[in-house]
Amino acid sequence: MSLQAPDATHWNDLAASYDRVMGNVPQMHALFQEIVSHIQPDTATILDLGAGTGNLLIQAARARPQAALLALDPAPAMLERLREKVPEDVALTTLIGSAHAIDLPDHSVDTIISNYALHHLTHADKRVCAQEVLRVLKPGGKFIYGDQHCRRMGGPEDPAWVADMYDLLSSKALHYLRTAGLDRMLLQVELIPKFLRADGEMPVPVEYWVSALEDAGFPPPLVVEMDPAPLLNRVIVATKPRAS
Ligand SMILES: C[S@@+](CC[C@H](N)C(=O)[O-])C[C@H]1O[C@@H](n2cnc3c(N)ncnc32)[C@H](O)[C@@H]1O
Repeated sequence: MSLQAPDATHWNDLAASYDRVMGNVPQMHALFQEIVSHIQPDTATILDLGAGTGNLLIQAARARPQAALLALDPAPAMLERLREKVPEDVALTTLIGSAHAIDLPDHSVDTIISNYALHHLTHADKRVCAQEVLRVLKPGGKFIYGDQHCRRMGGPEDPAWVADMYDLLSSKALHYLRTAGLDRMLLQVELIPKFLRADGEMPVPVEYWVSALEDAGFPPPLVVEMDPAPLLNRVIVATKPRAS
């Protein structure tokens, strides 16, 4: 089953090369493992926000084969790749849309996962996303979210923010060259202008997400600091109160 919505992003253009460039990046596999380790064993439904070509969702499905899968992404081309990779006997629903407007009923999903996707939301939409996640989760359900972060809030109009962001992104590019190869480094370098212009690449310090989730109504979440430190990768685990 597929639900349609109009949005599309530059990710449609990256769909064909995504798995070749990202498939063997060790830091991504570490994030997948950490995220999957927090999924409750008896979960009946798993929703992946920004599922892309399905690399996280497929690992989650292997670990929790009883779960029905929901994959949300604004880029139809990424979801097409995902569909090709998921075995036909697995229950899969794809939703074309954005993580800040989840087209699912209240209290309908046990587990919401996400990896390297929610930094594409504007800062205001990150806060709306936190509210959406709380709305869609069943009481007691978990939100398990991995992503890259940055060191300070700011924007392109603030030279100190631009300098700090450039320093962070260029050291990440060198780190990728050493650990994941030239293609991953070059993707990072190509994306640097999008980060510096806040044009679709808008990471925040992890504290921003913690406060967005708490303001939405989650108790203080667990924050797992991933290695290596220069990438500022974090996994956030927030559990919806049973009484809400
Ligand atoms: C770096 S890829 C990550 C894909 C996958 N989660 C993984 O870990 O392999 C980023 C994904 O986020 C998606 N994305 C971009 N904007 C989004 C939004 N507003 N809501 C949800 N996903 C979004 C892109 O289309 C893309 O598929």
